[in-house]
Amino acid sequence: MNKITIAPDSPIMAKDFVFGVATAAFQIEGAADLREPCIWDTFCAEPGRIKDGSNGLEACDHLHRWQQDVELIAGLGVDAYRLSVSWGRVMYRDGSVNQAGLDFYIQLLNALKARGIKAFVTLYHWDLPQYLQDEGGWLNRITAYKFARYAEVISQAFGDRVYSYATLNEPFCSAYLGNEAGIHAPGVQNRQWGRQVAHHLLLAHGLALQVLRKNAPGAKNGIVLNFSPCHAASDSAADQRAADMANQYHNHWYIQPLFEGRYPDLLQQLPAAESPTIAPGDMEIIATPLDFLGVNYYTRTVYRANSKGWFSDVPPTAPPLTDMGWEIYPQGLTDILLELKQRYPLPPIYITENGAAFPDQLAQGQICDDARVAYYQQHLQATAEAITAGVPVKGYFAWSLLDNFEWAEGYAKRFGIVYVDYQTQQRTLKHSAIALRELFASRR
Ligand code: FCB
Repeated sequence: MNKITIAPDSPIMAKDFVFGVATAAFQIEGAADLREPCIWDTFCAEPGRIKDGSNGLEACDHLHRWQQDVELIAGLGVDAYRLSVSWGRVMYRDGSVNQAGLDFYIQLLNALKARGIKAFVTLYHWDLPQYLQDEGGWLNRITAYKFARYAEVISQAFGDRVYSYATLNEPFCSAYLGNEAGIHAPGVQNRQWGRQVAHHLLLAHGLALQVLRKNAPGAKNGIVLNFSPCHAASDSAADQRAADMANQYHNHWYIQPLFEGRYPDLLQQLPAAESPTIAPGDMEIIATPLDFLGVNYYTRTVYRANSKGWFSDVPPTAPPLTDMGWEIYPQGLTDILLELKQRYPLPPIYITENGAAFPDQLAQGQICDDARVAYYQQHLQATAEAITAGVPVKGYFAWSLLDNFEWAEGYAKRFGIVYVDYQTQQRTLKHSAIALRELFASRR
């Protein structure tokens, strides 16, 4: 069985470096009958949206199996567990609180605390209640204020059980994939809407962050963003410019407002009809100081100029690729961390997601996912290199604890370090889980 070998004097082997595993509510919880429907339920019900025609109604049935899953997490020897709260499980349409839903999370947090596992709670991992979508969703500015109210309810109810709160997970995906490209829920294809949604999400983040700072001053409060280094397909000036535009649009669009209170210069080049409306004072709210920044990293992206003066991505074809078709490019993690450090006054950083899907096979009770073991080895090494170069990375979370509902890909793509048999809901540690467990146990 392959191991993950990291030198004992590597900065990620220090006792205070936080290792964890991550999940998200819609992807694992199931028990849809015990919560309000969300935009992903609606999206899944539309023919052709999800590759395997599946949905999140049962998923990993985590809501009923959470005790067993907490034992699984504890058995890995992690320091932390990153989870998200389903908004529609804790708040009804009329704004009142679903106490049973809240109690589910409170019990889970209590169990983590009892085992000395730090809880990293994300308030929004894409599952907007459908009742809010019915009123315009994130296109409606009011949703940002409703999100702040939700943050209020959660932070009051959870008290000191939470080590860290993230307001949003990957607002790029909610805004761009969901409302501009239309490949995620709610499935809208509209450039202006995508940008307006991005702005309202960032506003929601700022408003909620102010609530969290007030109600949970002892917690580390921040946001989780995804980054992918943008490389040019060729040396041509046009392709170089395309890669730069993509970098502004997909990466810096979400981080520059947080640290500088303004969008990248690319905003000025957008036609007025396709630009977001920004109310006075919004950018100050968005720039509320962060205790930490979560960085999700999977791969790099290559761009070329297209005939519309914009950029198009060039999907990778050469190996090594994951089952998602994403290039395995560990250097990109070091590079993006260094780029961010050079550009912004960074708070502590946590790698809040990193991992890979592979076509795992369960054979004789084992899952020999050597490629995933190698992926973790390389990306942990890349993280250590960034720390040595001065980036303040304080922790690393593997995506994901369990195989789960991989959004538009359904259940066909397996990102877990633990294999899930969806017929029986049986969990089996993959070799990568065993390798990570051994790595965690070997720390000085
Ligand atoms: C990220 C999402 C996470 C998971 C991974 C593979 O963009 O945050 O939920 O789907 O990708």
